[in-house]
Amino acid sequence: MNDERAKEGASIAGPVLTIAVAKGRMQDEALRLLARAGIELDEATNGSRRLAVEDRCGRYRFVFVKPADVPVYVEHGIADCGIVGRDVLIESEADVLQPLDLGIGRCRIVVAAKRTEDVARNLGMLRVATKYPRLAAAHFGRRGIPVEIIELAGSVELAPVLGLSDCIVDLVETGRTLAENGLQVVEVIAESTGRLVANRASYQLKAEAVAALIAALGRAMESKE
Ligand code: PRP
Repeated sequence: MNDERAKEGASIAGPVLTIAVAKGRMQDEALRLLARAGIELDEATNGSRRLAVEDRCGRYRFVFVKPADVPVYVEHGIADCGIVGRDVLIESEADVLQPLDLGIGRCRIVVAAKRTEDVARNLGMLRVATKYPRLAAAHFGRRGIPVEIIELAGSVELAPVLGLSDCIVDLVETGRTLAENGLQVVEVIAESTGRLVANRASYQLKAEAVAALIAALGRAMESKE
């Protein structure tokens, strides 16, 4: 351990908590919130491609993974905590705790189509393209609407435009992607924001460290408002 880390009270045994952060749309906002909470990464690591880094104090190890993998790492206890969107958590159905709504990466999960009638007047099997197959199936299941779910990995908005599906279930943040592809919101299924999630065992066994993280993030959120 170097002098700087010793001064700041880092543990000799290494980082106390491992935190999985969703790469992509929410990453920058998550890092800004963490910085306001006093948890900072080195400038050099911010723009780098390193997937696992420690914060400056050596108290936390961060791993940057695809959003859908955050609940997997946390549920299996490889990461004690995670930062990921509610959309991903609904789809994953992972058994993780959700102690804090971080209010970042605000977006909506919607049904969208070229025309409202494409969904409303569909009498046969509705073809739904989506990156959220479970969430979409559950939504239309609750409405008693028979659907064929067409699972895609991205650029979902293309599906109705090219005739692959009647509608999509996808995220809308600014609405630009929908508008630029001639689609409109038919129905809002859910609102989504970034959540702090925690592994059940870590929440008990590392209670003090997890509570300190929750408190620091809570204060950072208040200072933003
Ligand atoms: C997401 C989402 C939409 C878009 C919405 O895709 O699936 O396509 O962003 O954002 P907007 O309302 O601000 O236009 P993402 O950028 O994650 O890429 P993907 O299509 O490859 O999944």
